[in-house]
Amino acid sequence: MILGIESSCDETGVALYSGSRGLLAHRLHSQVKLHAEYGGVVPELASRDHIRRLAPLVKTVLEEAGVGGEAVEGVAYTAGPGLVGALLTGAGFGRSLAWAWQVPAVAVHHMEGHLLAPMLEPNPPAFPFVALLVSGGHTLLVQVEGVGRYRLLGQSLDDAAGEAFDKTAKLLGLGYPGGPAVAMLAERGDPRRFRFPRPMTDRPGLDFSFSGLKTFTLTTLREEARGLGGEALEQLKADIARAFEEAVVDTLVIKCRRAVEQTGIRTLVLAGGVAANRRLRRRMDAMMEKTGGETFYPRLEFCTDNGAMIAYAGWQRLRAGERVGPAFDARPRWSLMELEPPGQAG
Ligand code: KG4
Ligand code: ZN
Repeated sequence: MILGIESSCDETGVALYSGSRGLLAHRLHSQVKLHAEYGGVVPELASRDHIRRLAPLVKTVLEEAGVGGEAVEGVAYTAGPGLVGALLTGAGFGRSLAWAWQVPAVAVHHMEGHLLAPMLEPNPPAFPFVALLVSGGHTLLVQVEGVGRYRLLGQSLDDAAGEAFDKTAKLLGLGYPGGPAVAMLAERGDPRRFRFPRPMTDRPGLDFSFSGLKTFTLTTLREEARGLGGEALEQLKADIARAFEEAVVDTLVIKCRRAVEQTGIRTLVLAGGVAANRRLRRRMDAMMEKTGGETFYPRLEFCTDNGAMIAYAGWQRLRAGERVGPAFDARPRWSLMELEPPGQAG
């Protein structure tokens, strides 16, 4: 039975996972309201809030699962990548709990958490699979042969997909976080009014580039918004949101199709915050159906940051005997490709 702690950015997540019984309890505290007035995550505020929330969340999760601390056999915490102060809160708290309970602790890579999150679902994907990881900080296409056996197929050369959503939301005057706001506005948008480019799809390869799309948003908004107000301006913003979303979704689908064709692997996993996007899920499903393959996702609430995915990834590593050493570790920059299969590191 493993306790998982996530505190890499603006969500405090805690969960309890049992190897035999699955996910027993999970809780999340989102800091969205705290950061909203600043238009983005303020690292120092994030750390302070994690500190405030961690102990009560652990208490609630244990109560919900109906177990005491003595039943916990290991503690997994997100060691990176992420905001260093925020990571340190989870690492410090997680390691202290493990020390008090006399159980091992294990350091989890946040993106491995995202990557393995679909394994928590009733119909989990089987290895090997192609994974598209799309979050606020990363856009990665990875060939996954097993836990810790990752081959990079492609990545964003500039902005991550979620970052592009967040920046576009800011330009359109929408709140933070931008992804859900842009997606909601796009629902009212006319897909025929504007066509944004599909970056890097006209050349071979599996890398992405999303930074140009925000420039496109900005220039379109500047040119078209002149003299507009009220309903017409709102419609313009909705049409831009739709054009932007169509462009990101199309680009991601095109690259995933390529990755599937190139590897011959017909199982696709989508994870990370942007995988919560409904249009992306629909279009990816349709594309994979045509190839005779299948797409797997975490449930919506486990697409974005959460403690359950950290508990699960930590369980995979703890059961192979992996433990943190005496050196304190929080790694704000940490490539997923550095990981080894469970128990083989170091
Ligand atoms: O995985 P996540 O919770 O945190 C990181 O590890 O970054 O992902 C957050 C990102 C944000 O950029 C957010 O705008 C985006 O995921 N996001 C979405 C949607 N929900 C969250 N993007 C598009 N559509 C959504 N429905
Ligand atoms: Zn994340």
